[in-house]
Formats: sequence, C-alpha cells, structure tokens
Amino acid sequence: MTVHFIGAGPGAPDLITLRGRDLIAACPVCLYAGSLVPEALLAHCPPGARIVNTAPLSLDQIMAEIGAAHAAGLDVARLHSGDLSVWSAMGEQLRRLRALGIPYDVTPGVPSFAAAAAVLQAELTLPGLAQSVVLTRTAGRASAMPEGEALEAFARTGATLAIHLSVHLLAEVQARLVPFYGADCPVAVVFRASWPDQQVVRGTLGSVDPAIGLGERTALILVGRALAAEGFDDSRLYAGDYDRRYRPVGTAPRFPE
Ligand SMILES: C[S@@+](CC[C@H](N)C(=O)[O-])C[C@H]1O[C@@H](n2cnc3c(N)ncnc32)[C@H](O)[C@@H]1O
Repeated sequence: MTVHFIGAGPGAPDLITLRGRDLIAACPVCLYAGSLVPEALLAHCPPGARIVNTAPLSLDQIMAEIGAAHAAGLDVARLHSGDLSVWSAMGEQLRRLRALGIPYDVTPGVPSFAAAAAVLQAELTLPGLAQSVVLTRTAGRASAMPEGEALEAFARTGATLAIHLSVHLLAEVQARLVPFYGADCPVAVVFRASWPDQQVVRGTLGSVDPAIGLGERTALILVGRALAAEGFDDSRLYAGDYDRRYRPVGTAPRFPE
C-alpha cells in the first residue's frame, strides 16, 4: 500500500501529468483538496473508488482516512492543486506518514506560477532584465513570514516576483514594491489561470486598481520588468557565433565532435 501524492495542476483537468492521471486510475481511494482541485479529475478514479474531499477535514481526520486505507491495504491517490513543492501542506502529512511507517511517493504537477506565465505568454527570465523568479507570498492569518523573507528583501534583487495568496492585499503589495521597482513597472494579476473563468488584469504597479483583488482570491500577482519587455537581449545560447557542445562553431570549437 502506498499513498501517492499527486500534483493536480492549476485547474484545467488536462494539465495533469500522465503519471498522475494513471495513478488516480489505479487507486481505490482518492483524497482531494476540493478547494482548488478540479472535480473533473475525479472522473479518472476507478468505479467504486472511495472519493473524499479533504477541504473540510482536519489533519487528524485526513490521517484517519489514510490510516483506514492502509489497514485495508488500499492505495491512496492524494491530490493537491498545482505542484506539491509549494504551499501544499504535504510536508506535515509526510511527517505523519514517516512516523507511522506508511509508504508514499510524490508526482509533480504544473505549478500555478507556470500556468499564469503561460496565460500571459511570458518568459519570466529575460536576458539582461531578470534571471530569477521568486515564488513568495505575504503573511497570512495562519502563516507568518520568516524573518528575512519580507517582500522588500526580494524586491531589492529586481527579480520577477510571483506573489501567491496575496491578491486581497494588492494595495499593500503595490505600496511596498513601488520604491524598488518604480510605479511604471509592469504587473499582471492572473485569476484562476487555466480554469474556464480565468481572468487577466495587466497594468503597472502605479496603475493597477487594487480593488480588483477584493473578490476572487485564487490569483497570482506577477511583478517585474520582464513582463512587458521588448528591449531585452537575445540569449547567447542561440547566437550564431556562440560555440557550444550541440552546435560547435569556428575552427577550434570548445567541444570537438
Ligand atoms: C495554497 S496555494 C497552492 C499553490 C500550488 N501548490 C501551486 O503549485 O501553485 C494557493 C495559491 O496559489 C495560487 N494559485 C493556485 N492556483 C491558481 C490558478 N489557477 N491561478 C492563479 N493562481 C493560482 C494563488 O495565489 C492561490 O492563493
């Protein structure tokens, strides 16, 4: 018996990996975080599967479900939105499973920041403008930010920011970032990327109406010069005169065939 943690992707039911889909189809128990995991994915469950929405459950109740499946020798598909490496609450479940000696594995998913960038048709790391993407958030009711991870600390780097769980604080985010990026810095707020009701609001740190963040909370705030840039350098990788292993150039290439 194994608990398969599966990244369910950002919303569109076809943005799950083939491995994730096949694991769902093979598991007689499916626990899914119903707040953000699309119900359409449950169509992959085998007939008669026990399907439980864990959104209203406590960690103890979720572990009780897993414990019952373990006792019965039934594999579990455990679905969380996006990818599991960020804000999935997987860590605390894995810690309990390790303590109980229950086997598990992890299948990655498409994270929401990548889905939002795809909606914008944007590369977040443009040569000369930004070579880092910071996945971050602001403090929430249940989660304080560790010292040193304030928005200002990341803003100082000029990296592209993908700010999660914060759209309801859009005005505060704008005010805190303007001193670092400038009021003319491009911003895109992507609501429910890849869902049928997806929405995009583009603007600048100075111009985006903060009120747009007060309704739907499933949104990413992307900030950075890379978002609206045309004046960036081509990457060296594909430059005609750039000698590299897969495309040797010149009379004395660095990587002779
Ligand atoms: C609990 S976190 C889950 C993050 C998820 N594990 C991931 O890989 O992106 C929820 C936050 O992720 C962002 N998010 C998740 N799905 C999204 C989507 N489809 N479109 C925009 N933002 C999304 C929002 O900022 C939301 O508040």
